[in-house]
Formats: sequence, structure tokens, C-alpha cells
Amino acid sequence: MDPKILILGPPGAGKGTQSERLATEFDVEHVTTGDALRNNKDRDIGHLDLEYDTPGEYMDRGELVPDAVVDAMVEEALSGADGFVLDGYPRNDDQAAALEGMTDLDVVLYLSVSEAELVDRLTGRRVCADCGANFHVAYSPPKADGVCDKCGGELTQREDDTEEVVRERLEVYHDDTEPVLERYAGHDGYVEVDGERAPDDVWQDVREAVRKNA
Ligand code: AP5
Repeated sequence: MDPKILILGPPGAGKGTQSERLATEFDVEHVTTGDALRNNKDRDIGHLDLEYDTPGEYMDRGELVPDAVVDAMVEEALSGADGFVLDGYPRNDDQAAALEGMTDLDVVLYLSVSEAELVDRLTGRRVCADCGANFHVAYSPPKADGVCDKCGGELTQREDDTEEVVRERLEVYHDDTEPVLERYAGHDGYVEVDGERAPDDVWQDVREAVRKNA
């Protein structure tokens, strides 16, 4: 059976970075609400009669997109996946309760990183507008300023990676998402990994945790 992995951690902890490696190593699907929502930023959700009419209006402010939108997205993605690494969900208690009704989990990883490092990582991140590759102005700079090493595309800053919005995302994480950790701390496959090291070092522990628990 393919492993069912949940990866938790604050914005910028490296969930996306480690999830990509997990998806390749264990041949599972990478289910990420962040990417799915970015691909649907302008989708009209006006019929739900919520505060804003598109997911993007929540995201660019650093707020959570309403559960009705996100729960349905995750349920559909998980129903088509045998094994998966779930990244970016659940982000509040209601989403965690919804997830319990959708699937069980083999491994729950939590990446811990200090707040100062998170702000640094996120405000310095640059993303290729064409292929989505990630760079960092100081930690993994591209060979030529503003140009993607992989495809030559233009590097841009995510709208929610400005310092002001990053602070808001961290606030939302503390208020809404951190309490969810308690729910998983007692899970048989729960493993906390120190995420404040080089990506390869983090990966050694992440891979080991999945091998042991899946
Ligand atoms: P989402 O895209 O999920 O953003 P996030 O959780 O804030 O996470 P990030 O993608 O910013 O960080 P990450 O932990 O994946 O780190 P990464 O590997 O990229 O969500 C965006 C928005 O969508 C939310 O604000 C919300 O509006 C909405 N949304 C999403 N899910 C939702 C939900 N369930 N409910 C409601 N709304 C939802 O790494 C970050 C940077 O650090 C990169 O530059 C990377 O190169 C670098 N890096 C990674 N690892 C290391 C390392 N070990 N050392 C040094 N640098 C590193």
C-alpha cells in the first residue's frame, strides 16, 4: 500500500520542498491546497455568498480561503489518490475534522522552524512564472538575476510573500493552525522534524520517518 502522509508546519517551513521529494521517492501524489488555489485564484465563488468572490482575494491578504471551497478540493483530490502527501491542509480545526471523515493517515510530519527564519525564507523567495521553480535571493540564487536557471522564464515574487502579508500569514497560522497540531501529536505515526537545517539534512529525517511509519 502506498503511504498516506500529512505534512504540517508554518508558512515557509519547507512543506512544498520536502513534499516534492516525498512524492518522487514514495511514488505518491502531491496534494497541495496552496498550488491548487493559486491555479484557481480567479475562480468565481460568488454563488457561495462569502466575503470575497474569488480565492485570490483571500490569498493576497494572507487570510484563509473559506472551508467550503478548500474541503471540496481536497476531498476530490484524495478520492482519486492511492497514496499521497497532503501539504497545506488542514489549517483549522473544522478542516481537521473534515479530513478525519475523508481518509486515515500513516505518517504525520511536523516541520519546526523559528519565526525569524520563516520571514527570511518567504520574503527572499522567487518563483519562475513559467515552470514554477523556486529560488531564494540569498540561499539558492539563480545564476542570472531574475532569470530561471531551468527554463529561462522570469522570476517573480509571490503576492503573499511581501513582509506585510507574511506577518499576517504567520498570525493566521498561530491563531488557526497551531491548535490543530495537538490533534495529531498523539497519532502513532507523528514525527517532529527540525526544519531549520539545509534541505538535504531535513530530507534525511523526513525520509526515515516515512520509511519507519508507513
Ligand atoms: P500555501 O501555498 O500552502 O503557503 P504556505 O503554507 O504559507 O506555505 P509556503 O508554500 O509559503 O511554504 P512551504 O512550507 O511550502 O515552504 P517551501 O518549501 O515553499 O498557501 C498560500 C495561501 O493559500 C494561504 O495563505 C491561504 O490563503 C491559501 N490556502 C492554502 N491552503 C489553505 C487551506 N487549507 N485553507 C484555507 N486557505 C488555504 O519553502 C519556502 C522557501 O524556503 C523557498 O524559497 C524554499 O526554497 C526555501 N526553503 C525550503 N526549505 C529550506 C531549508 N531547509 N533551508 C533554507 N531554505 C529553504
